[in-house]
Amino acid sequence: MFDRPELIRLIGKIIADKAALPDKTIEIVVAGAADTAMLATCAHVAATLRVDVLKRCRFTVLDRCETPLLVCAEFAVWHGLDFDARPGDLILAAQPCAADLIITHSIFRFIPHADQVALLGRIGSWLAPAGRLILSNRILLDDDGAEAKGEIRKRTAANKAAEEALVKGVLQLSESAKTTLGRLKRSIADAAGRPGEFRSLGEVGALIRQSGLVEISLDCLAWEFAIGPGDLIRRRRVLAVLGRGMVNGLAR
Ligand SMILES: C[S@@+](CC[C@H](N)C(=O)[O-])C[C@H]1O[C@@H](n2cnc3c(N)ncnc32)[C@H](O)[C@@H]1O
Repeated sequence: MFDRPELIRLIGKIIADKAALPDKTIEIVVAGAADTAMLATCAHVAATLRVDVLKRCRFTVLDRCETPLLVCAEFAVWHGLDFDARPGDLILAAQPCAADLIITHSIFRFIPHADQVALLGRIGSWLAPAGRLILSNRILLDDDGAEAKGEIRKRTAANKAAEEALVKGVLQLSESAKTTLGRLKRSIADAAGRPGEFRSLGEVGALIRQSGLVEISLDCLAWEFAIGPGDLIRRRRVLAVLGRGMVNGLAR
């Protein structure tokens, strides 16, 4: 999660603004989870602001897959979070609450381009007044062939690390190592060809305008990192903060 430092800064500002209102419950929605990363990041940021801020947060996680909801529920019990899981497709989901903060992290690449405007508008309509939606998603590089090859090399290196950890007994599984490693090998190219990949920041700007949401900030972040000795790959992401509408020329 290369955008974590910037995400922490943005989430911290949004939660701190809400925490300044006495006794307010802070409604945080994670739209599409995969794992506990976004839930944990928000909870950690809230706790870092002040322990009582975390106690005022209510977390709702939506996903069409049950597994992320189960791991998030377990995480919530472990850390005493006020938590609700909503299974189902985001495209059909009912408003879970009047949200102060909504996070969509790496979700739009799963949503076909034809559905993205409607989905962003729908999720954005869940915002409470002065609520904020954070949209973070990969933007493909101009040389997406090289990027796809880099992704395969990255996953190959990760699979090799998993294999070594299994051999050393550092990693233990409830099924045989052979079964898990076979599955990892078969899914090596799974990240390729998602239906909603972004190709430019301009494309994301147009999506935001068409959704009816207001752009509060829109940034393109870029990284270069090593996946092996002398093997660098590049990535870029959009990180946007959106609001619901304008009042007297100001986002509300
Ligand atoms: C790449 S993962 C998200 C990763 C996570 N947000 C992060 O970056 O830390 C995508 C998640 O979105 C969920 N998802 C994709 N399309 C969805 C849809 N239409 N409705 C609900 N969940 C969806 C998938 O089940 C998966 O858990």
